[in-house]
Amino acid sequence: MTGSTIIAPSVLASDFSNLGDEVEAVVSAGADWIHLDVMDGHFVPNITFGPGIIKQIRNRTDKLFDCHLMIEPVDPFLAAFADAGCDIITVHAEATRHLDRSLQAVRDLGKKAGVAINPHTPVNVIEHVLDRIDLVCLMSVNPGFGGQKFIPEVVEKTRRVKSMIGNRPIHIEIDGGVDPDTAPLVCAAGADVLVAGSAVFKGGTEVAYRGNIEAIRKSVG
Ligand code: DX5
Ligand code: ZN
Repeated sequence: MTGSTIIAPSVLASDFSNLGDEVEAVVSAGADWIHLDVMDGHFVPNITFGPGIIKQIRNRTDKLFDCHLMIEPVDPFLAAFADAGCDIITVHAEATRHLDRSLQAVRDLGKKAGVAINPHTPVNVIEHVLDRIDLVCLMSVNPGFGGQKFIPEVVEKTRRVKSMIGNRPIHIEIDGGVDPDTAPLVCAAGADVLVAGSAVFKGGTEVAYRGNIEAIRKSVG
């Protein structure tokens, strides 16, 4: 996709005891989307939050809710996340046996559909669902935790996905270890959505978030 880079702060790195205010603060600080990391303690070794909490923060902003589901199974929960107000619903290729069906289910709910793939997963898993998706999320860490080190192999994967999608209006999102040093590498390779948790929420205040978001934006020109 062409156009300017979308910054999607992950609330995983925010103060959960103050989640609604954190969402408002990061939006005031310049966030384009809000990235919501849903973890089940089964597909990934951590647990976060579900549709109930997402629904409660939905009225804090009109910004797009970018929901990253790290849950298995995923199909039984899609309707709840749609109902909670998520705009993009991303499922992991590794967490659903019938990827095509899961993606169609998201679109049938009237939502945009995304596929996430883990660092070791080859990009060809998305080859035959390209006409069913609005976003590809390339994991640049193993999912489950914020604050991990960027895995540089994702740069080549980004290049490959960029060439696979051709003219289709599909976002390429990078998730994990994104900061002003790594962001330019993936943007040059074709990424247009940057998820950042620790690099945005460090400092703990709206003023800090603004500076952090600006630093990422500046790094990608
Ligand atoms: C990891 C999550 C990421 C994570 C990114 O499983 O999907 O969204 O919060 O955090 P940072 O930016 O700290 O690597
Ligand atoms: Zn994520």
